[in-house]
Amino acid sequence: MTDASGGNVMRFPDGFDWGVATASYQIEGAVREGGRSPSIWDTYSHTPGKTANGETGDIACDHYHRYRHDVALMHELNARVYRFSVAWPRLQPTGRGPLNPEGVAFYDRLIDELLGAGVRPWITLYHWDLPQVLEDEGGWPERQTAQLFADYAAAVHERFADRVRDWTTLNEPWCSAFLGYASGRHAPGRQDPAASVRAAHHLLLGHGLAVQAMRATRDDLRYGITLNLYPTSAATSSAADQDAARRVDGICNRVFLDPILRGRYPEDVLADLEPIAGLQHILGGDEKIIAQPLDVLGVNYYSRHVVRAGTEGTGRTDAAWVGARGAEGVRTGRPVTAAGWEIDPTGLHDILTRITREYDTPPLYITENGAAFPDVIAADGAVHDDQRTAFLDGHFRAAHRAISDGVDLRGYFVWSLLDNFEWAWGYERRFGIVYVDYDTQERLVKDSGRWFADVAAANTLR
Ligand code: FCB
Repeated sequence: MTDASGGNVMRFPDGFDWGVATASYQIEGAVREGGRSPSIWDTYSHTPGKTANGETGDIACDHYHRYRHDVALMHELNARVYRFSVAWPRLQPTGRGPLNPEGVAFYDRLIDELLGAGVRPWITLYHWDLPQVLEDEGGWPERQTAQLFADYAAAVHERFADRVRDWTTLNEPWCSAFLGYASGRHAPGRQDPAASVRAAHHLLLGHGLAVQAMRATRDDLRYGITLNLYPTSAATSSAADQDAARRVDGICNRVFLDPILRGRYPEDVLADLEPIAGLQHILGGDEKIIAQPLDVLGVNYYSRHVVRAGTEGTGRTDAAWVGARGAEGVRTGRPVTAAGWEIDPTGLHDILTRITREYDTPPLYITENGAAFPDVIAADGAVHDDQRTAFLDGHFRAAHRAISDGVDLRGYFVWSLLDNFEWAWGYERRFGIVYVDYDTQERLVKDSGRWFADVAAANTLR
């Protein structure tokens, strides 16, 4: 399609869901209010040396108190959907049993505010803030955490299913398992590869049990999971590099996609993991539970992996790539964001078309995509974040191309609504389309935010 000025116009399918995403620990603050108990991220961020400048989510964006204003911003940005996570330690401070009324009341208010503003609430049940009490009992490497997660999911669902249609069980279980328990770069900061493999399985099992429990009471709502997926390829055609790519693809993508969408772990990945963790933690029937029918698959996309076999001990190998020791990420020379991640919109098209080709997927959503750049408030009082706008424009175009190529993509959520606590990187990496002044908690819509509002309103890229 061409517009009057001869420019290229890309229209998205009618009803396409434009949205914005956040996560509880990254924005809420108020960590000691409303009966909330500490999460593994409170413990981790308060441990010296774990996060940049020792920063924590204690205050973050103070969204717990400023949610009304933040919902008004979403409305202003023409977001149809708000994907947020609910904090397990706020809703169920002891990790089990009845929900905390004050926690429920907060999300009640938030949900009502959203509905009042015409923004559809989309809940993620777990975006990494495990109650510390459960980590003290062994955390995700222990099987009981899967069942406790499903119980928690069912209890939360019971309270909000009257107003919330979209339910995501887990955000990026790869990070929870392998950054949390293998590399230690995320909470709880363990460096125990065997534990990380068990954690991955129990996260998947928890997902399956949770969907089962929620669907048993309401089959008319939509259930799904969000995975961070990476197109993965070998740096050269050498057998060693090809095998490194196979292993990294296995531990980043297929170890989650296969059991969820095919009901079976990939044999080659099991063979890679068996020497590390054994397979005794995978019980008969588990894979069947994990493979619950889904209404949605959420894809978070940030960059791609190009890998080579490398030499163990060079320091470039990633401890989170369990089962792929020695594999190294290779830079391709593309420009990078402030997070150091290569900017590669084609990778988004590649991953969407790949999963559509290789799996029987439910409808897809981009549940996160976005970029950190060193934003500053200019003399004219605005944030001219042209790099972010260009980044999003490139990725929206890639998504549109994927739709034209037959991918059933239903929506796109930008990461993130607000600058926020970027985990181990603290507050330095700004991902928002709204700028946050952390001293005053003032919010300022960046140029990219205004641009997003126009795209969402027109459902069209110009
Ligand atoms: C994803 C996380 C999200 C945010 C972005 C930048 O891995 O889900 O919380 O940190 O990266």
